[in-house]
Amino acid sequence: MSNRILVTGGLGFIGSHTVVELQNEGFEVVIVDNLSNADEGVMEGITAITGRLPVFEKFDLRDKDKVEAFFSKYDDINGVIHFAASKAVGESVENPLLYYENNLGVLTYILQELVKKGSAHFIFSSSCTVYGQADSMPITENAPVKPAESPYGNTKQVGEEIIKDVCKVTPQLSAIALRYFNPIGAHPSVEIGELPIGVPQNLVPYITQTGVGLREQLSVFGDDYPTPDGTCIRDYIHVVDVAKAHVAALKRLIEDKNENNYEVFNLGTGKGSSVLEVIHSFERVSGKKLNYRIAQRRSGDVVQAFADTKKANEILGWKAQSTLDDAIQSAWDWEKKIRDYQEVSI
Ligand code: WQD
Repeated sequence: MSNRILVTGGLGFIGSHTVVELQNEGFEVVIVDNLSNADEGVMEGITAITGRLPVFEKFDLRDKDKVEAFFSKYDDINGVIHFAASKAVGESVENPLLYYENNLGVLTYILQELVKKGSAHFIFSSSCTVYGQADSMPITENAPVKPAESPYGNTKQVGEEIIKDVCKVTPQLSAIALRYFNPIGAHPSVEIGELPIGVPQNLVPYITQTGVGLREQLSVFGDDYPTPDGTCIRDYIHVVDVAKAHVAALKRLIEDKNENNYEVFNLGTGKGSSVLEVIHSFERVSGKKLNYRIAQRRSGDVVQAFADTKKANEILGWKAQSTLDDAIQSAWDWEKKIRDYQEVSI
């Protein structure tokens, strides 16, 4: 049985951390990435951590012929972890067709190749965004999927439906959708981490970039929400914990431990943290005061979302190990490294 695994988007934030954990578990990894949202230098970072150089094939998965040629060349792929997708909520509203082609068209090309194979194992990068504003907290996998608030969110909902429908008629294909809450942080080696392009849309990289002086001031998008301190609540989970969950999910399929051939798991810590609590965490671990102001609400934000982790803990046999401070510390260490930021000790 081959232990060669395809990781699409494997040079991206969560993808690269997952490649490290796969290599640590002895898997042979082939990365496909078009570098639209990743840097080829991440290859060195991965190798610096594991001592093993993954195979890297650079092409755009929207090219169906290249996808077919890839699976002909690597005919011993035993599993696919599919990260490659566009994920900027705002951009998806402006450019829906890019999202439907890149996030769904590509998904169908990969599934077509897997259906051709005798047996295949598929891990899908999904998101808590499928829940929209859930009616109750913590959110379980049975919470209703609500009408998507953006084309991005819709591609995750429809993506899950596509996989479910294909699995129904393809018993030899087994799949798991992993619904991430808010992955943050960086590998403790500070060899890999988040590399947002341009102005970060997400909270934690904006905080760390403000910490090193790259950004003047963080805007807190609203403090008049119905939460204890008025700011939105999310489930921030260390990216290494998220990566380890992917290996656990893949092993579950390879070792035939899955109860049916399409399963869904939430990936969170089970703990909700407000924006202000994240800011205070940064101030604690960095010893610095963060420059921020209270600004208008951001449209599309849900008030709160944090995971019920029982299913992943008890069935997948995986549990997040890191605390919010651990994750923020790793994000801060990474930011200081990539900006060559020198702490001024007074
Ligand atoms: C978190 C909180 C903001 C920036 C996640 C993923 C995203 C997408 C959708 C992933 C919110 C507040 C943020 C800032 C702020 N898909 N914030 N000032 O919104 O939960 O999005 O799900 O699968 O990639 O990250 O995460 O980090 O954007 O925002 O006040 O400058 O921080 O309003 O309450 P979000 P986020």
